[in-house]
Amino acid sequence: MQQHPDYQRYIGALKDEIAALRKERNAVILAHNYQRDEIQELADFCGDSLGLSKQAAKTDADVIVFCGVHFMAESAAILSPRKTVLLPVEEAGCPMADMIDVPRLRELKQQHPDATVVTYVNSSAAIKAESDVCCTSANAVKVVKSVDAKKIIFTPDKNLALYVSRFTDKEIIAYEGFCPTHILIHADAVKRVKAEHPKALFVAHPECLPDVIDIADYVCSTSGMYEFVKNSDASEFIIGTESGILYRLRKENPQKKFYLVSKHIICPNMKMTTLDWLAQSLRYMRFKVEVPEDIRVKAKKSLDRMLEVS
Ligand code: 13P
Ligand code: SF4
Repeated sequence: MQQHPDYQRYIGALKDEIAALRKERNAVILAHNYQRDEIQELADFCGDSLGLSKQAAKTDADVIVFCGVHFMAESAAILSPRKTVLLPVEEAGCPMADMIDVPRLRELKQQHPDATVVTYVNSSAAIKAESDVCCTSANAVKVVKSVDAKKIIFTPDKNLALYVSRFTDKEIIAYEGFCPTHILIHADAVKRVKAEHPKALFVAHPECLPDVIDIADYVCSTSGMYEFVKNSDASEFIIGTESGILYRLRKENPQKKFYLVSKHIICPNMKMTTLDWLAQSLRYMRFKVEVPEDIRVKAKKSLDRMLEVS
């Protein structure tokens, strides 16, 4: 769609301002793979939760602007306490992370005192602090296998827990959380798109429902999808995750074709960050994400254990 010249000028001015402020503040811009195209385009680093945590842990910038959702910025604040961590939109949260709270996790721990708690990074700092080790979608199987326990409380994503349980004999007690975006991917719809594009491989995120995982050709984190597509001999792919991933898939693989299971697979929270909010974040140094020191120290142990494993 043709943009009005005024709008083009406005966007150009915002981009210039972001570039200037980024330098002035010695800031690094991290963006999750589900962010809007224009945010991914100007980010210093795009990645999945694991990749972004690693970047946050090693950056020498003074300011980390986290274009993603709250738990991601919080992980950066836990790993880099001396840096200023900004989340451009204060309300950008993850509904799955909000499905669990400390009293409920404590109750589960009381019911299963011999279990180790493995917590998906899509969770608050307080939940991480109550856990033994964290995981992301990229390393969940590896983390669970690495744990020296027969019984695991896995929180908050039930579907990721069920996915992991396919690869281990350990008893997994799954918390009942889920991603409201990924459960919109239905197996029937996948089968329909497969019938339309019989040569296409179906790649799914492990937050998808079990019957969707059953029919996937490959299951991986968002960054795993870039690797898979790049190295695959196939030329067509059905993508079983949030639509933001298409930006880089198309850019990096112009000769390959991508089909979404449905155009409605969108995470509204991930899409809240716009160039305006990013510019304002750098302009006013907001919204600062901080974690109380006692919680931060405990949560960092769970994140560090995960980073050691991966
Ligand atoms: P990744 O770690 O695979 O990027 O997933 C994060 C997420 O929130 C998926 O919904
Ligand atoms: Fe949370 Fe799902 Fe959005 Fe990921 S896609 S941030 S799990 S709501």
